[in-house]
This record gives sequence, structure tokens and C-alpha cells, in this order.
Amino acid sequence: MDPAGEQPATPAATGAARGMTSYGDAGFSRFLRGAFLAAAGFDREDLDRPIIGITDLTSDFNPCHRGMPGILENVKRGVLEAGGLPMVFPTMSLGETLLSPTSMLFRNLLAMETEELVRAQPMDAVVLVGGCDKTVPAQLMAAASSAVPVVVEVTGPMITNTFEGERVGACTDCRRLWAKHRSGELDAKRIASAEGSLATTSGTCMVMGTASTMATMAETLGMMVPGGATPPSPTGDRLRHALKSGRRAVELARDPILPTEILTPDAFHNALTVLAAIGGSTNAIVHLLAIARRAGVDLGLQDFDDRSRETPLLLDLKPSGRGYMEDFHRAGGVPVLLAELRDRLRLDHVGVTGRSLRDLLEDVDPPAAWQDTIRSLGDPLRPGGALAVVTGSLAPDGAVIKVSAATEGLLQHTGPAVVFDSPEDAAQRLDDPSLTITADSVLVLRNAGPVAAGMPEAGSLPIPQRLAAAGVTDMVRVSDARMSGTSYGTVVLHCSPESAVGGPLALVEDGDPIRLDVAARTIDLLVDDEELARRRERLVPRAPEERGWRRLYSQTVLQAHLGADLDFMSPGPAVEAEPRG
Ligand code: FES
Repeated sequence: MDPAGEQPATPAATGAARGMTSYGDAGFSRFLRGAFLAAAGFDREDLDRPIIGITDLTSDFNPCHRGMPGILENVKRGVLEAGGLPMVFPTMSLGETLLSPTSMLFRNLLAMETEELVRAQPMDAVVLVGGCDKTVPAQLMAAASSAVPVVVEVTGPMITNTFEGERVGACTDCRRLWAKHRSGELDAKRIASAEGSLATTSGTCMVMGTASTMATMAETLGMMVPGGATPPSPTGDRLRHALKSGRRAVELARDPILPTEILTPDAFHNALTVLAAIGGSTNAIVHLLAIARRAGVDLGLQDFDDRSRETPLLLDLKPSGRGYMEDFHRAGGVPVLLAELRDRLRLDHVGVTGRSLRDLLEDVDPPAAWQDTIRSLGDPLRPGGALAVVTGSLAPDGAVIKVSAATEGLLQHTGPAVVFDSPEDAAQRLDDPSLTITADSVLVLRNAGPVAAGMPEAGSLPIPQRLAAAGVTDMVRVSDARMSGTSYGTVVLHCSPESAVGGPLALVEDGDPIRLDVAARTIDLLVDDEELARRRERLVPRAPEERGWRRLYSQTVLQAHLGADLDFMSPGPAVEAEPRG
């Protein structure tokens, strides 16, 4: 027996014979496996088939995955029809709204768990079924580190509802209606009624938030059977897509295409182009950086800015536009968008279908005249620059802003800082009548980066109540946090390096002038260097986390501009986490 108690799989080992534990007698190992699988009702004929692992992320703590059982059944049926043996296994489920302090703290843990279970259990291919914000990024990170074929399936978006006669959905409208409540426009009775109207079916947030963005990224990267990002969760379209994923996984088990062959520089070129064209979530930037690092693809923040500048915003979905995912689906979904972007994409790319993008798009028509959700390149929603990367003395390694969801008049703005030391501090003092603040102030939030707090979605600070009541709807906000993909406003995020490792946000004091100039791609703290050096000497190192996952995470997580993965998880040149404490 080798020291790890394992026997490496030979290239010929498939199905139940993969990766067997060694007892010094390979025949006995296989016999023992067969005996225990017989107890679960599998016979020798079953075990001659390719085994397809299927992840189950069903959880009462994850309402976005309520539709998962039906989807799993259809993936299984697809596997059986194609002659494979489906074996469902659980992994942790990350429900965005019920995890504290943030689901992002656990993305890397799910990625690690998924990778290890795919490696440790005998499967010839795997269908990774996710949905809510962090699940698909974690699964794609695991896929990039996987040595078996992977097909990604998602639970799909929710379907919209109405509130007081107006079409609404999660969760751009959640934020808009809550802002109306804060300003006094919606009373307690009406906001309670809104609470029951915003998310009424199974599925993920149905705007172009992080879940929808990452589903679109999975399809564009080629990790999903085409047409899979948009079918709403409760529909037959979703179930039929799950069926195709199961069938395709069996074909891939017999004729493998590995994720490392799919997650190429061309795949990321296409993903960044589509991210800009859909006005996708800023969170996708961190996730794509992490996936690319795992895949050994050289990708940096500047690539996102470059692609965004060159690519018009074509998709009219909230929060950048008007519609919802079901509109995108009816308009033809990702394939039709790709067809419109054809001349800007790397068409030789091959994904899980085994066909080149050029070949796949032969069958796809451009956007139809009857719909107005997918705009043409000749009639875009905005000419380009939906996402921008800014750098400067406040963010030497970069920060990001979703320009398409910001207020045009605030994209060049200089104002005095109002500083909050943590999300908790902001919650306590933002509405304090004694706070010195005007509509021109720049709200600064720190200690919300990867090391400090796991990077919560706290960056879109609410407008202080008295300013909201006076009609202020947007202000410049700057932080090392993330924001929900469903949020909007002039919000500068992911300032890197973060304040907890000594980034410049740690040095800002109330009243310091901050200048944002998105056209020049800059964000600067207008305080002289000598004063900043004096402030740096007074900085107090933060206390280390004491135990468990949070300790490992805070000691090894990379900064946002590198994807916030753990520093030992990527195959490329080692980058160590910033010294902390
Ligand atoms: Fe799960 Fe939005 S909370 S996708």
C-alpha cells in the first residue's frame, strides 16, 4: 500500500474500478466494492456502464435550489437513456441569502469539496448541478482542476410576478422597493406585501445578477450544453435541458473532452466579451479570475476593461436595463446573443459538445425582429464600457465599477469621504442624524475585503435615510467589498489591496477628498504622501482568526484582483497571500 493508502487509477480503469483503495490485492478491492454496491441494488451489468456522478445541492437553506430534485431526476434519466449509470452525491449548498457573514467565504470550500469528491469517487464524467450565486463559480473552479469530463447544469432563473400591477423580480426590485420604503414612499403594510411578491417560484434571481451571469459564463465558456443558461427553473425547457446534459455526460465519458481542453484563452476571450455585452455582475470578474488561475490561463483585470471598452451592451435586462431572464430565454438565450457577437468571438473554440463555436452558430439565427431584449450591434443599449477597471492611489492593484448600472453624472466626481470601518459600523451610523454628510459625499467602507470578512456584498451601501427622503437616489460609494449582481448605483468595488492588509483604504479619514474619474479609469485619494505615511505608522494590525476554515481562509486567500482563491490551489506560478496581521 502506498503511504496515502490509495492506488492511482491506471488509464484503463473506468467505472467502479477507478481509483480503488489498495488492500494489496486489486481483485479483492474490486470485489469489495461490488459487494457493497450490490447492497445498494447495483448488479454487475450496472457496473459495466460508465458511471456519471451528479451533484445534489438541495438544501432547505437554499430556496434558489427548490427545483433541484426535478432537475436531478431528468439528468439521471438522460444518463440512463444514453447507457450510463447515474450516481447522485451531495456537496454543500451555498444559499446566498441565508449564509453569514457571506456565501463568498465558502466558495473556495465548495470548490475544494467538489474537486476532492470528483477525484476520490469512481466516476467517468460528472454533471455539476448548481444555481445560486457562488455554487456555479465554485463548481467551475473544481472543474478546472478536474481530470474527468464535466458538464454544468443549473437550476435556472425564477419567473417574474407583479406587485401593485407592476412586473417585479428578485432582486433589483427588492433593492428598489426597499429604497422607497427607506425614503418613506412605501409604508410598512405595502413593503410587507412586496416581500411576498418578489420571489415566487423556484429558481435563481431572474435579473442579470450573479447567478444569471455565471450561468451565461458557463455556457459561453463551453462547459454547458448550449441553451442551458436561460430556461426558467419551473419550466419543461429546463427539464429537457437537464435531460440533454445527462445524455451528453455519457457520451463524454466514452469519448472524453476534459475541462482543461475547454477552459482555454479563447474560452475566456469569449466569456469576457459576453460579460460586457450582457452588463454582467461585477462578481463574475472575481470568479472568472479564479477559474482562469485554476485553468492556468493568464487573465488580469485589464483584460476585462479592454473587452468591455470594445463591446457594446446588447442585453436589455435589469439592473442595467428593463427585462428579466425569461425575456432573454424567449428571445433565444445565449446562442442568439453569441450569433450577434459572432465577429468578435474566437470561433474555433470547442466546448462540451465537441463542435466548434463556428459550427454551432451555423444553426442559430440572429436576434428576431419581434423581440427587443437582445439588441443588435447596430442598435446597442450603450456603445461599450459596461464594466470598467479603475486604478490609482486608492486602489493600486485595481477596483471595478459597473458603469451600466451607475449614474452618468457621478462617473466624474470629487467629494469628501465619510468613512465606515466595517459593514456593522455602516449599519449603525449611516442614518445617524449627527453624521456630517451631503449628496456630494463619498461613502467609504473598509474591512470588507477577502481577508477581513470574506468579501461580503456590502459595497452598495444604502443612501442615508434623510438624503433618500430628500430625493437623493445615488451617491459615489467606494469599498473593498463586493456588491450583489442585482444592485445598481455608482459603486466602486473590490479595491485592491484591501484595507485589512494595509491597502490605502485603511488610511482614509473623514473629509479627505476622493476623486473618481471613470473616463480616465482612475480613483484617487487626494492626500499628500507625507500625511499618508504618518497615518500608516499608526495602523494597528488586525488580530488573526483563531480556528477552523476561517483561519485557513484568512491566511491563504488571495486579493480580489487575483480571484480570491486560496494561494495554494492554482497550478501556475505561486502567488502568496499578502502578509497579514
Ligand atoms: Fe440565490 Fe439570488 S439569492 S440566486
